[in-house]
Amino acid sequence: MNVNTVPRQHQRVLSGMRPTGRLHLGHYHGVLRNWVRLQHEYECFFFVADWHALTTHYEDSGVIAANVWDMVVDWLAAGIDPGDARLFIQSRVPEHAELHVLLSMVTPLGWLERVPSFKDQQEKLHDRDLATYGFLGYPLLQSADILIYRAGLVPVGEDQVAHVEVTREIARRFNFVFGREPGFEEKAEAAIAKMGKRNARLYRKLRRRYQEQGDAAALDTARALLEDQQNVTLGDRERLFGYLEGGGRVILPEPQALLTGASRMPGLDGQKMSKSYGNVIELREDPHDVREKLRRMPTDPARVRRTDAGDPAKCPVWQFHLVYSDEETRGWAEEGCRTAGIGCLDCKQKVIDAVLAEQAPMRERAAEYESQPDLVRSIIADGCDQARDAARETMEAVRQAMGLVYR
Ligand code: TRP
Ligand code: SF4
Repeated sequence: MNVNTVPRQHQRVLSGMRPTGRLHLGHYHGVLRNWVRLQHEYECFFFVADWHALTTHYEDSGVIAANVWDMVVDWLAAGIDPGDARLFIQSRVPEHAELHVLLSMVTPLGWLERVPSFKDQQEKLHDRDLATYGFLGYPLLQSADILIYRAGLVPVGEDQVAHVEVTREIARRFNFVFGREPGFEEKAEAAIAKMGKRNARLYRKLRRRYQEQGDAAALDTARALLEDQQNVTLGDRERLFGYLEGGGRVILPEPQALLTGASRMPGLDGQKMSKSYGNVIELREDPHDVREKLRRMPTDPARVRRTDAGDPAKCPVWQFHLVYSDEETRGWAEEGCRTAGIGCLDCKQKVIDAVLAEQAPMRERAAEYESQPDLVRSIIADGCDQARDAARETMEAVRQAMGLVYR
């Protein structure tokens, strides 16, 4: 159930990226291109998640500053228009931290421990200290980032979907705990009593299991129990559904993840493109290096000589054609490969041309912004002001709902 009551076209879009250094084509095709498209359709907020970078890299925080500005220039280069979208830096909107601490009061530990990235990263990143409170709280900080703008849509890569999912649960829980109308609870309790002793006891037990431990199976069972009740009125039934998972006022609407339709961007070696695999092409990489990297890409190992036929399915270059080439070029490459009608360098040249053509305007825009650091600073300053206004508005409602306004 989606408790976001704002019509889709009026929803806010929010997304962020950790400042990990120069962006590459994987970022572009996975997320950035989506941002560029959305900025014309929605009110968009895009931010640099510098606090999130600290959760895993606090020992080398010295590089964060350079990474922040490199990334902002990459965004602008990719076509993010500061006239359309608000660009800002997380740490310049300290309200994110306030909401984080307030949400932490109602977040069950188990929800955070169960987020897949928590264990995954701890297993993968051996050289990092991830046994910190900050790292455990990573998804909750992300929830605060999203909820503070009451964003409806969150364009992210697939690896972030679980974080948006936790955000939905946290919003639901917050609304449940702090959003009930006067008298709602009494009415709900009276309705429970009407179910009879046995069912009432079962309902209460399942509800507690869901709310205290986030047990989704308990929620499903409780819903099924409600469906089966013959002798409750429609109004009571609705109340009991709401009471289960947080009926009442929606102070923080539930967001939805928005994935790019684009095919997975492969790296130079056919694995997912990622800096840690050393298989990336940077967004504004030097054209000479781009050419060299693509020329040296591995191909179908069966094509040892020019006269050997190949199989595109076994070739990482083909993956690039899937992202960059039209139907006709793909047909040409596939046919030429299978019949040894073309050489691998001919095949790669089409990809080289397409990648360079995509990058040309980016390189141009990047050069322009790089030569005007003050302009970039002022774009961010404006974005921070606008973000902060929006964040403050939400925080007023949050403090009010939590009883933190003292007069
Ligand atoms: N965790 C995200 C990533 O690693 C970055 C991020 C932080 C984010 N806060 C966010 C993304 C809020 C979307 C919404 O890419
Ligand atoms: Fe790969 Fe193209 Fe060579 Fe076939 S012709 S092996 S698809 S580079």
